[in-house]
Amino acid sequence: MRLEEKHLLTAIRLTIWSAVIVLLIVVACVIWLFLPHEPSKEPVDLKEATSVLSAWQAPDSTTIPQTPEGDLIRYGQELIAHTAIYLGPSGTVAQISNGMNCQNCHLKAGKKWKGNNYAAVAATYPKYRARSGMQESIEKRVNDCLERSLNGQPLEQTSHEMKAMVAYIRWVGSGVRKEAIPAGTGITDLSLLDRTADGGKGKFIFSARCSRCHGLSGEGLRKPGSNEWLYPPLWGEGSFNNGAGLLRLSRLAGFIHDNMPYDSVDSKSKLTTAEAWDVAAFISAQPRPARDFSLDWPNITEKPFDHPFGPYPDDFTEEQHRFGPFGPIVQARKKD
Ligand code: HEC
Ligand code: HEC
Repeated sequence: MRLEEKHLLTAIRLTIWSAVIVLLIVVACVIWLFLPHEPSKEPVDLKEATSVLSAWQAPDSTTIPQTPEGDLIRYGQELIAHTAIYLGPSGTVAQISNGMNCQNCHLKAGKKWKGNNYAAVAATYPKYRARSGMQESIEKRVNDCLERSLNGQPLEQTSHEMKAMVAYIRWVGSGVRKEAIPAGTGITDLSLLDRTADGGKGKFIFSARCSRCHGLSGEGLRKPGSNEWLYPPLWGEGSFNNGAGLLRLSRLAGFIHDNMPYDSVDSKSKLTTAEAWDVAAFISAQPRPARDFSLDWPNITEKPFDHPFGPYPDDFTEEQHRFGPFGPIVQARKKD
């Protein structure tokens, strides 16, 4: 081969390689351009996204130490997850509650993000609570739920069971700075509807979205061969009583919105804010055990806007305090 031919061949090879490289770059650019870059169809709530990033995470139960103190914490976790077995109507330790588990309302034993968790309890108690008008310890707060949410009797503050539950609740919140309330603690405050929550609509929502687990009459379903509920009751004899916090519409709607249906996996199977208020209105109007809590809220000006029973420090009716519209009540309080 002559020298000129060799040069020619090298030149051709170089050209071909350059062309291939340029082509690859072009193809890569085209692919990049056609990839979906627009934001996903679901509008992302920025506040939500940031709070999820900085979300509180419960400690891992496998890190509970193998010490006598650790054993107490583990027993507390067991009592909160399976209260009925130990403290229910045929409880092995005492028969002082209605057969629900604390976990039925404090999901994942009080560790679930927005699931009525115990994140802030260790950091904020003892604290003043307006319902009793007193400084309350964690023990007093646990007994509150026993007497109201579990429609039962209080535990001795010095009992092994009380010490265990309190040790566990403290351990759940052990990573939280004193007085801090992490995002996603407890139950979320939903935005208020500008109308009365509609129990009629709520009945339909209940039949369509809730009754397959909780039963057509909200009666729940027992776990076969067990004292626990597979699906706890939402009203009737086995449910929380009229003094329970969950009877307040904002608590019930907030809990339902973030956590029910229990098997909802995406935003499509969750309820909208309006649906949550409406189904809460339906549930809270159903019959449930009644107890005398007339000593609650010694200072009525501290009653929450949605406390279902009078007397109130304003002229709005009991009906409006139960089902809204709440906006005018909240506004009137701001003016005072
Ligand atoms: C029927 C539902 C229900 C059951 C069952 C229940 N609770 Fe509660 N609990 C609530 C509600 C509602 C609140 C108030 C949440 C709010 O206002 O954000 C609450 C609040 C608490 C708090 C205070 C949380 C805080 O951040 O101030 C503690 C502690 C607590 N419960 C412990 C228990 C224990 C222990 C049990 C079982 C013996 C139990 N609860 C059973 C509904 C329930
Ligand atoms: C797939 C079954 C399922 C569906 C559907 C479902 N739940 Fe639940 N619900 C549960 C379970 C299970 C619990 C108790 C959670 C636990 O113990 O971990 C619960 C707990 C509750 C609680 C607190 C405990 C109580 O008994 O008061 C309320 C309130 C509640 N659900 C309301 C609803 C509403 C309203 C709907 C419909 C929008 C609904 N649920 C749909 C399974 C379900």
